[in-house]
Amino acid sequence: MTPIKECLINKKTNLNPIWLMRQAGRYLPEFREIRKNNTNFINLCLNSNLSEEITLQPIERFDFDAAIIFSDILMIPFGLGQSVEFKKNFGPSLGNISLDKLSETNEAIFTERLSPIYKLLQNLSRNNKLIDKDLIGFVGAPWTLLVYMINKVSPKNGLSKDFFNNKELIHSLLTIIDKFIKIHIKNQVNAGATLIQVFDSWAGLITDKFDQYLYNPTLSIVDYTRQLGVPVICFPRGISNYSEFCKIVNPDMVNIDYSVDPKELIKKVRIPIQGGLDPKILLTDKENLRNKTTKYLEIFKNHPYVFNLGHGILPQTEIEMVKELVKIVRDFK
Ligand code: CP3
Repeated sequence: MTPIKECLINKKTNLNPIWLMRQAGRYLPEFREIRKNNTNFINLCLNSNLSEEITLQPIERFDFDAAIIFSDILMIPFGLGQSVEFKKNFGPSLGNISLDKLSETNEAIFTERLSPIYKLLQNLSRNNKLIDKDLIGFVGAPWTLLVYMINKVSPKNGLSKDFFNNKELIHSLLTIIDKFIKIHIKNQVNAGATLIQVFDSWAGLITDKFDQYLYNPTLSIVDYTRQLGVPVICFPRGISNYSEFCKIVNPDMVNIDYSVDPKELIKKVRIPIQGGLDPKILLTDKENLRNKTTKYLEIFKNHPYVFNLGHGILPQTEIEMVKELVKIVRDFK
């Protein structure tokens, strides 16, 4: 059994497996080299050969315990026929949606559009470099996908004023999103994903109707993934009540962000925990990195814990600091 599964399923402590969110990406010179010649990000995600190479880059450098496929949460809107573009120094930009147009996409069309992602997983699941490692597939959570599909750009400065205006649109979209997230998970599992992570990057923007936007939609995805026999990790970034989330949604593991007090959380939460370290710590110095990393490891000594960050690794992170982080985690006794 892989170290992450030992932790998740057998609730082993002190193993401290490690992988990092956004480990396949812009802080790696070898990624930037490929990206330079592939200016269309969606097409890069749909190039199974290059995606395989990028997925394996951080494994070759740091020997992480899991590979996360090089893809994006916005491949679901793309698969549904909404246009998705990534603009330099701006982030994602999505096109207008119409329910009529979305409803033209059925399971077969969606699966065909995203087939290179499933091919990528098939190839990776046969790759010797991933023996004894997990292969993580992922999806955006229903709320976060709803946010991107309606808001059309990252809501860094909050949601657009009219976001909640069209209740019928929201209701219909949530139904469509639920259906296609499940199809995407099923396809990834059938192609060899051994774990699924659900990224709810904008969960912190939910201020009321938690049942409607957070708990019920996420629970539906978690229950479905479990039925497929694959463990599921949830990352409801920025929410104020992780213990309530764990009680209601009860995923196999929860990833915490860096605003969570880990000491307080383990008093209330029984399920395995992942992550927490502020990615900005990797931009400081080795001594500070050791102090902050060791703090998490000490707190989680008697709790099943997978080392990770409290959000994705930052593009300006130095390779040397990532090497040091892995060493600190692996040497910890
Ligand atoms: O973790 C990994 O290394 C696997 C690949 C992965 C990417 N995106 C590749 C990527 C994963 C798991 C994601 C998830 C994702 N995508 C999330 C959830 C996690 C989070 O960060 O909150 C979100 C919100 C997105 C949407 C998205 N994709 C944004 C907002 C951006 C632009 C800003 C940014 O963070 O880079 C992307 C682009 C993107 N996705 C890049 C990569 C490597 C950068 C592409 C580039 O410009 O070279």
